[in-house]
Amino acid sequence: MNENQSLTLRGDTFRIYLDRKTIQERVAELGRMISTDYDGRKPILIGVLNGAFMFLADLMRSIDIECEVDFLKLSSYGVEKISSGVVHELKKIDAPIEGRHVIVVEDIVDTGLSMQFIMDIMKKYRPASLSAATLLHKTAATRVEVPLQYVGFKIKNLFVIGYGLDYGQLGRNLPDIYIIEEEE
Ligand code: IMP
Repeated sequence: MNENQSLTLRGDTFRIYLDRKTIQERVAELGRMISTDYDGRKPILIGVLNGAFMFLADLMRSIDIECEVDFLKLSSYGVEKISSGVVHELKKIDAPIEGRHVIVVEDIVDTGLSMQFIMDIMKKYRPASLSAATLLHKTAATRVEVPLQYVGFKIKNLFVIGYGLDYGQLGRNLPDIYIIEEEE
């Protein structure tokens, strides 16, 4: 990282957008909200692999009521920077969630197609309740409206990396979130 806190990945330049302190504070707030909202209900958090693993780990540590975790995995759109809109389920959840209070945890909602796809799958398992948490929401990219109960940050419609989010599988390990430099 240089003094301007920018970096190059796969030939594109990114600059810092949300630093680790800002992220951690907001994630802790979301954890407190969930703890209050779900008190006495023992929710199960369903993390969407791979991108949500870091957010989910921090979110769960901020929740101070009993809760469980499981994961599902969707197909990714490879090294592209725009959503293909084509989603497949690659790994199903293992936990039985019928009658459970389910919170789906995503790293980012872009077009909303992935979240809608996941919600449709989840509803088939007949949970007692279903809600969605996402760290980031590209509000201007929305193609389908999906109710999002817990949103960390509403962000610009530009490609971001870090804190679990990747660019062709790279960049997930960055503790801060970076945004691609807009072309002149
Ligand atoms: P959607 O189906 O268009 O809402 O896209 C959701 C998925 O696309 C996310 O779970 C991410 O894996 C990926 N994605 C969307 N925007 C970005 C981005 O800016 N950086 C990295 N991954 C992204």
